[in-house]
Amino acid sequence: MTMTVRALGADDVDATVRLWQEAFGFPTMPSAEPASLESPGSHHYGVFDGPVLAAVMTEREFDSYYGGVAVPTSGIAGVTVSAEHRSRGLLSPLFHAVLAGAKERGATISTLFPSAPRIYRRFGYDLVADFLTVRVPTQVLAQVAAPAGVLVRRAESADIEAIRAVYDAWAREQNGPLSRRGVSFDSTATQLLDAVDAVTVAVDPDGTVSGFVRWKRGQGFGEEAVLQVIDLLATSADAYRALLRTVGSFATVTHLTTIKTSGPDLARFFIPSIHWSVVDALPYMLKIVDVCGALDRPCAPGLSAHLDFAVVDDFMAENNGGYLLEVADGRTQCRAEPAVDTATSRVFTSRGLALMYAGAQSSANLRMAGHLCGGDPAQDALWDAVFGGRQLHIRNHF
Ligand SMILES: CC(C)(COP(=O)(O)OP(=O)(O)OC[C@H]1O[C@@H](n2cnc3c(N)ncnc32)[C@H](O)[C@@H]1OP(=O)(O)O)[C@@H](O)C(=O)NCCC(=O)NCCS
Repeated sequence: MTMTVRALGADDVDATVRLWQEAFGFPTMPSAEPASLESPGSHHYGVFDGPVLAAVMTEREFDSYYGGVAVPTSGIAGVTVSAEHRSRGLLSPLFHAVLAGAKERGATISTLFPSAPRIYRRFGYDLVADFLTVRVPTQVLAQVAAPAGVLVRRAESADIEAIRAVYDAWAREQNGPLSRRGVSFDSTATQLLDAVDAVTVAVDPDGTVSGFVRWKRGQGFGEEAVLQVIDLLATSADAYRALLRTVGSFATVTHLTTIKTSGPDLARFFIPSIHWSVVDALPYMLKIVDVCGALDRPCAPGLSAHLDFAVVDDFMAENNGGYLLEVADGRTQCRAEPAVDTATSRVFTSRGLALMYAGAQSSANLRMAGHLCGGDPAQDALWDAVFGGRQLHIRNHF
C-alpha cells in the first residue's frame, strides 16, 4: 500500500483525535465541544496508509530567543504513529514534509519535547535544555531577605502588558525561551489571569512592574499541601526577593512549593538554603532547519573572523556542505561555500551544529562526543565566544 503525506483537515479530526488518545491518553473525558484541529499557528500533518491515518504530527509557529533576537521556530508536538504502523519508518516522510513547509515559511530552527531523544536524533535534533519542576519547602522561601522599596499587589488586566514586558526583558537575555508573542500566543488578558489562581506583581516605588509570579494555591493545608508557582520572573533583585517572600508567606498552610523553572534560575540566588530538588524534568531538543538563516544573528561585538565549516549527515540533505561564517560588527552572517574542503575543515554533525548554535555545548565537548572534528582546534575558543555566553532556558511546554 502506498503511503501519502498531507495536511490534515476537518474530515480527519476523528481519526487524529483517536491516535492522540491512544498515544497520550488525552482528552481523558469526552468534550461537550465538537473536536477541532483549528488553532492559530498550528498545522497538522498525517501519513495515510491508503485511506487509514497511520501517523500524525503537529507543527506550531513560535519565535524563540537565541543570541538576543527572536528566531522563527517550528515547534513539533503530538507526534504519534498508530500501534500497527510503528517501526516502519513513517516519521521520516512526515518530518520531510513538515520541516520543508516550516523552512518555506521562514523557520530557521525547530524544537520539540521528546518522549525519547533517540526518536529525533536521526533528524538532527539534540538536547539543549530542560523544563523543570523543582520542590522547595515553603518555609525556606519565607527566609528570603526582605526587599528594599519593592511592594507586591494582585495583578489586574491592565498589568498584562507590563507582565509581558518583564518576560520579554528576561527572555531576550537567554537562549531558548519562546517569545510568548505572535500567532500561537493569542490569549486575552482575562484568559491569562484566569489560567491560574492568582498573579502577583512586584512594583517599584515609581509604580513600574518589575516582576510577577503566577501561582496556583492547590487543595488543603498542612504537610501535604503544595503551592504551585507556574512562572516567577523579575528584572531586579528586590523584585525577586519580594515575590519569593510572598510565596514564602504561605509557609504555615502549604508546607511545600513547586516552581516551574529551567537552567540556572536567578531565583535560586536569593534562596538561603540548598533546597531546590528537581521533581520533574522535560528535556527539550533543537534542530537547525536553515543553516544560513539561523546563523545570521547578533554576537558579541569586538569579535572578527572568517570561519569556514561544513555540515554532514543532516536529514535535510540541502543543509549538508560547506559554509563560510563571517563574524564582524557584532553579527554573524553565513553563506554556502562549496569550495570548503570537508576533509580538512571544521566539520559538524547536524546535531553538533544545533548544540553549538544553542550554546549548549563547547567545541571541546562536541569533539569528545564525536559531533565536531577537523579544523584548527586553536579556533575552538573563538567559536565558543561567538555562540556561548547565554544561559539555556525554556519556560513553556508544548
Ligand atoms: C515514538 C513513535 C512515534 C515512533 O514511531 P515509529 O513508527 O517506531 O517510528 P519510526 O519507525 O519512524 O522510527 C523509529 C525510530 O525511533 C526509535 N524509537 C521509537 N520509539 C522509541 C523509544 N521509546 N525510545 C527510544 N527510541 C525509540 C526506534 O528505535 C527507531 O530508531 P532506529 O531506526 O535508530 O532504530 C511511536 O512509537 C509512538 O507513537 N509512540 C507513542 C507516542 C510517542 O511516544 N510519541 C512521541 C512523542 S514525543
